[in-house]
Amino acid sequence: MELFLDTANAQAVAELSKVLTIAGVTTNPTIITKSSKTAKQVFDEMNAVLAPEQKMFLQTVATDFDGIMDEARYICGLRENMYVKIPVTPTGLQAIKVAKQEGLKVLATAIYSADEAFFAAMNGADYLAPYLNRMCNLGDGIQQVSDLIEMLDNNGLDSKVCAASFKNGLQVHELIRLGAQAATVPPAVIWTMVKNPNTQIAVDEFTVAWKETFGRTTFAE
Ligand code: E4P
Repeated sequence: MELFLDTANAQAVAELSKVLTIAGVTTNPTIITKSSKTAKQVFDEMNAVLAPEQKMFLQTVATDFDGIMDEARYICGLRENMYVKIPVTPTGLQAIKVAKQEGLKVLATAIYSADEAFFAAMNGADYLAPYLNRMCNLGDGIQQVSDLIEMLDNNGLDSKVCAASFKNGLQVHELIRLGAQAATVPPAVIWTMVKNPNTQIAVDEFTVAWKETFGRTTFAE
């Protein structure tokens, strides 16, 4: 599974990339506007901390076909391993189809149902981003994503599911268990999964025992 970080915070990406195997970074217009930075600042800061093989995803803002296509070409030309995120409106689906004919790398986003995702997959989208938490707020999001994975498999479509919109580690756990090929998760949610207080308590117990017995906190004398 590919793990992406859903953030405009380059420092958070740099920190987590030291600890975990991070495949890249996703953003959306809301994440960028909340960062109080321009899109260019976010891109430059991310580009500085990402290795060339790590992927970056930026989303189109235009909602008309020509506008989406202009932004898609611009975004995909920014660096290697650059993907454009296009929402799956009818116009967005049209743009995804043409973007793939042009050889652009595409993630279909703002997905609220397995069917929307399936149609984007038929148009050749590389990744499909179902908004898991938002789907769970409306119905059985986990079942929809499970259906999607099965629908892609049964129909021989290569698009990868990149589950998105996570609010807690349990949701991430469920999607990994289902076999989603990718997930994009906010750094704060990842840290709740990485920093287990019980693991730290166990390590502290080892340290105390060693120090009491040997008078030091390192293995070798
Ligand atoms: C992914 O890139 C999506 O844009 C994002 O995960 C949406 O998350 P939200 O539901 O927290 O806005």
